[in-house]
Amino acid sequence: MEKKDCAVAGDESRLVFEVNGKRFEMGEVDPSTTLLEFLRSATPFKSVKLGCGEGGCGACVVVLSRFNPVLNQPEIFSVSSCLTLLCSLNGFSITTTEGLGNTKHGFHPIHQRFAGFHASQCGFCTPGFCMSFFSALANADTAPQPPAPGFSNLTTSQAQTSITGNLCRCTGYRPIADACKSFAADVDIEDLGMNVFPKGEFPPYDPEDDVWPYVRVCKQECSTVLNSESISWFTPASLEELGSLVADGARFKLVVGNTGMGYYKETERYDKYIDLRYIPDLLMVRKDETGIEFGAAISISRVISSLKEEGESDLVLMKIAQHMERVASIFIRNSASIGGNLVMAQRRSFPSDIATLLLAVGSTVALLRGRAQERMTMDEFLYGPPLAPTDVLLSVHIPFFGSRVGFESYRAAPRPLGNALPYLNAAFLADVSFKESGGVILNYARLAFGAYGTDHATRASEVEEYLAGKTLTVEVLDEAVRLVKLSVEPKDGTTLPAYRKSLAVSFLFSFLAAFIDVSSPTLGVSFSEVADSSNEETGTYYPVGEPIPKVGAIIQASGEAVYVDDIPSPPHSLHGALIYSTKPLARVKSISFEAVPKPSGIVDVISAKDIPQGGQNFGATGLFGSEYLFADATTASAGDLIAFVVARSQKEANVAARMAQVDYETQGLEPPILTVEEAVENSSFFDTFSPYEPRLKPEMIGDFTKGMAEADHKILSQEIILGSQYFFYMETQTALAIPDEDNCMVVYSSVQSPELAQISIARCLGVPEHNVRVITRRLGGGFGGKCQRAMKVATACALAAQKLGRPVRSYIDRNADMIIAGGRHPMKITYTVGFKENGKLTALHVDILIDAGFFIDFSPFIPYMLIAGLKKYNWGALSFDIKLCKTNNTSKTMMRAPGDVQGNFIAEAIIERVASLLSMEAGSVREINFHTGESLQLFYAEAAGEASGYTLPRIWDELISSSCYMERTAAVEQFNRSNIWRKRGISCVPIVYKVTVSGKPGKVSILKDASVVVEVGGIEMGQGLYTKVKQATAYALSLIKCDGMENLMEKVRVVESDTLSLVQGGITAGSTTSEACCAAVIQCSTLLVERLSPLATTLKDEQGSLQWNDLILEAHNQSINLAANSYFLPESGSKEYLNYGAAVSEVEICVLTGEKSILRTDIVYDCGQSLNPAVDMGQIEGSFIQGVGFFMLEEYLTNEEGLVTTNSTWDYKIPSLDNVPKKLNAKVLNTGHHPDRVLSSKASGEPPLVLAASVYCGIRAGVVEARKQLKGWGATQGTDSDLQLDVPATLPVVKQYCGLDYVETYLRSLLAPS
Ligand SMILES: Cc1cc2nc3c(=O)[nH]c(=O)nc-3n(C[C@H](O)[C@H](O)[C@H](O)COP(=O)(O)OP(=O)(O)OC[C@H]3O[C@@H](n4cnc5c(N)ncnc54)[C@H](O)[C@@H]3O)c2cc1C
Ligand code: FES
Ligand code: FES
Repeated sequence: MEKKDCAVAGDESRLVFEVNGKRFEMGEVDPSTTLLEFLRSATPFKSVKLGCGEGGCGACVVVLSRFNPVLNQPEIFSVSSCLTLLCSLNGFSITTTEGLGNTKHGFHPIHQRFAGFHASQCGFCTPGFCMSFFSALANADTAPQPPAPGFSNLTTSQAQTSITGNLCRCTGYRPIADACKSFAADVDIEDLGMNVFPKGEFPPYDPEDDVWPYVRVCKQECSTVLNSESISWFTPASLEELGSLVADGARFKLVVGNTGMGYYKETERYDKYIDLRYIPDLLMVRKDETGIEFGAAISISRVISSLKEEGESDLVLMKIAQHMERVASIFIRNSASIGGNLVMAQRRSFPSDIATLLLAVGSTVALLRGRAQERMTMDEFLYGPPLAPTDVLLSVHIPFFGSRVGFESYRAAPRPLGNALPYLNAAFLADVSFKESGGVILNYARLAFGAYGTDHATRASEVEEYLAGKTLTVEVLDEAVRLVKLSVEPKDGTTLPAYRKSLAVSFLFSFLAAFIDVSSPTLGVSFSEVADSSNEETGTYYPVGEPIPKVGAIIQASGEAVYVDDIPSPPHSLHGALIYSTKPLARVKSISFEAVPKPSGIVDVISAKDIPQGGQNFGATGLFGSEYLFADATTASAGDLIAFVVARSQKEANVAARMAQVDYETQGLEPPILTVEEAVENSSFFDTFSPYEPRLKPEMIGDFTKGMAEADHKILSQEIILGSQYFFYMETQTALAIPDEDNCMVVYSSVQSPELAQISIARCLGVPEHNVRVITRRLGGGFGGKCQRAMKVATACALAAQKLGRPVRSYIDRNADMIIAGGRHPMKITYTVGFKENGKLTALHVDILIDAGFFIDFSPFIPYMLIAGLKKYNWGALSFDIKLCKTNNTSKTMMRAPGDVQGNFIAEAIIERVASLLSMEAGSVREINFHTGESLQLFYAEAAGEASGYTLPRIWDELISSSCYMERTAAVEQFNRSNIWRKRGISCVPIVYKVTVSGKPGKVSILKDASVVVEVGGIEMGQGLYTKVKQATAYALSLIKCDGMENLMEKVRVVESDTLSLVQGGITAGSTTSEACCAAVIQCSTLLVERLSPLATTLKDEQGSLQWNDLILEAHNQSINLAANSYFLPESGSKEYLNYGAAVSEVEICVLTGEKSILRTDIVYDCGQSLNPAVDMGQIEGSFIQGVGFFMLEEYLTNEEGLVTTNSTWDYKIPSLDNVPKKLNAKVLNTGHHPDRVLSSKASGEPPLVLAASVYCGIRAGVVEARKQLKGWGATQGTDSDLQLDVPATLPVVKQYCGLDYVETYLRSLLAPS
């Protein structure tokens, strides 16, 4: 980074700041511009990625530094650039990951270690992780105590905590955590997972070099205030100045961190932005004997550190600080103010944690109203009318308590460590005295509850009154619990009211029970280390089989990797946003923009009427049919595209799309079909098997009636419901279309199927396919979601570009992306199964209704894959009836492990029920129903391959032994006997996963300097395709056996996919693209080796030895064709094959809240001979964690009209670092030679996702234990162990199955006469 002193002007009318040492000075700027918008549109620093725009993902994190004149010290901290307003950065130095290091000036050790630990797959999240971690590193290492050479002052735990707010959808987090932990002072390098650094020889880290410069850069006196009429930004330095700024009737917005925008997403425009961060009264921290007072503009992070300092002598303050550490994420807390939080809670009913905490401890606040200052209690503040716009919150006072009182606070949220709003939070303060005769008197209590669907945090006054002066007994607890259920009453329309009330009971009980002699639970979170993973290396076909870091990982870390939206906009570019239907089936009468003020910058609204002559309304094509671009006469679902609004900037396009008013008409239309049941009533189905591809028709096995007749037991007509899942690729759908000469179009698209996008665009524009060039270099994640929908975005851009004759690009915002995406297929399953007394299955019949949405998409694959997954056990006989229901929901598409995850899950759900009914251990029922070589052939036909390739029994035995399954099962039983508030479950689940290899083209060209350029018909989206292709090319070319080929890998470059350069690329999907592309480049390389061999022999004979470079130079001179094309087509017998693996997961659940933590997972997975164990390990772990999301967390919900409602990071929760197994042992098993496979390798991309069913089964086992406990207390309902736990097993689901009245039942059991 260029480092120079911060030359900030004293001129208050100009905005001055630095980015990576480059000075910017601006006299005019839209004050609502965020730092992210500025960096991405006006600087070359594109590493800041837009993942959500809500503060919820961390993809945009940057580090800010400045000399703080108030504290008289330098400050360095991370923030989310998507919410930080540019104008609030006057005098700041901004560092992005490019600023830490880059290709030109050398990479930073953080970049090097992220790459070396295989911590970057698609890479879209990586810059944000690097910056979150850098911030922690810098702060730890600017402390007076210098760290040990090469290490940081951070502990491993702090290193992990620093990144808990960042999301990654690819890696499963373990390698990221390891890369960060490698800097920690207390790291044990033996604990770190696979990496490229021999014996812990990490790239050197010296904080002197790496940290101080960024702080020094701004260590000088700067004018920090910006007061500019032209920018409409004002920074009052006193309350008087503030008073006059708000008094002139202009529309103003008071701003501190602006993080509130992440929740409210206002589109309003203001005349003035008033920055409150420089008014001394709002920045002070004052202490006296009564307590500590914080100015309202102080960041939550600073409040936490002050409270922690005081907390050494005051436990209440320490506990408040610890709770605040679970508010949002570090990069939000660093800029979010305590005052902003409270104002949002007071004025707009934000579900605040801080309001609840402060209400419980009896805080007071100071307000400025007009010229008068008022002090009031937190109760008066919260219960009073909403603050007026001119009211200013000045400060918050928190009293000291010393050791006089008992205090606890609680929250239950999908992510234990934060970055998730709670279902309910609570904070309790109590003054107690201990009677000499024994017993505890509760003198008074303040009991606060919040975030449960209430206007603001409330006190449970009836409970407080009841408890005051009481000696705590079981009877008193019982009455308190009864009363709290009356006090905590969610508002009408709040989701999960019964669950939220049960949390109130659990928390209150937990608090009070600690004072009396009953078994009292301790609630809270712990954060163990994410642990190691291991592999077995292979060693043939060098460099294939080597754990080489993923190609491009380091430039992904340094932010230099170019994604579609990073391509600089050509001159005169326009931006588009999609307008989608919010109704399932309706005529669109008109689209207008009548809002006041009208959205600005609109250039055109493109719809079906704009399809050119000769073109068609064609948006996407697939194997089974085509899909229109824009709904024309009627919309087919909520989320169906209606139009594309084109504006001068992406921000304007997004605002316009959000504000568009669509006038619908439904008169005369049939009612929409929104459920599979309605589809059945209306016989609304897609053809399930024919006429598409006869091979997709799954085979039934044996005679079901006969099998049932042989059964000792039967389970009849049981139902399972499975919901959808959203891809949550970190990069949303995006494309850039540039009109070219002669009616051609170049489209950069983040698409998994460029060839199909090319066809769609050509059809829509009415031009030949050779007029359309679709280019795709890399995707920021795909997971199946960038096949169909990505084509529509690319086609919409191309259509607009053609009509307007200008480049048009679009980056779909997260909320819209979630609404239009479609996602995984939801389904309803009804099964009947027969089995013997010993658990042996005899027959299974399943009826399955699959919601495919309104368009066929790739849905005919689902039954085929589902049945393949289901067949993993020998059912005896298997029959099924599957219907692909055509509904008015968004069309569902292929998400990672499509159909397979459901098929496997159905199998496991049935096994669990069978085991329950027979009172057998589920593992034994699984084992007894494993296939024999013979039954495998019967169920899977050709795909079964040779009997020697059936490695599941070996994997199973190895896993049972290596995971100490038997011993741990006994330990789990012991744990469950001695714990009533926490229960554990352990489960071992196998997979048999069928994949299909399809044809792929490849092209290898050798240039004059002997470097090699490779093209393949596959897309790099994080799965390491290019890395494996590079290795395969180097291996196959090296067979020419020249000198100087040792580092051939470094000479090979795999370049972007270009549909006019390499045709027939098809779709990248189904886990097998990597091996097929490797096979294609091996064929090309073999052709080249054949062509070069005669020359090589001649030269070797002449010279005795031959260098690779010399061979190529001579071949060039002799005009030998040095480019080879090939199309790999697997032989008919080796198109399909089976993958095997198994996982053991041990899970702990909290019966009071439904929280779960995965204590440990062990995976053994057969990769054949892995092409790259590091890449495969990444696929296994990442895929598994995506499965954890499906089974534990992710709810992709719609309203009654089919419109997605969980459409943001606020309510759609993918796993974060705190949801992953606390210990993860994954092993890539080398199962030797597989003659029909590409270099003996097997797929790794999707099958391990299915192994996450082990987590689900572990949770279920824990729930069964909780129900047994209930039964022991005399409960009669909800105690059977024969249950079907819903998927995903979220907190409310787990709690519901454990018993919403678990506490009440326990208390009743204590009160019952013995
Ligand atoms: C991703 C994310 C997750 C979050 N998770 C949690 C959570 O788990 N628990 C929780 O409690 N909170 C959570 N929050 C809320 C967060 O604490 C608030 O957004 C933040 O504290 C607001 O502070 P700010 O300085 O950014 O306010 P701003 O966004 O600048 O302002 C918010 C509002 O308050 C007004 N305002 C600000 N200061 C004053 C003042 N002194 N006087 C009068 N008006 C004022 C502003 O005009 C604006 O209307 C989360 C926020 C985000 C973005
Ligand atoms: S893009 Fe800023 S936090 Fe997600
Ligand atoms: S590597 Fe983290 S989202 Fe892809």
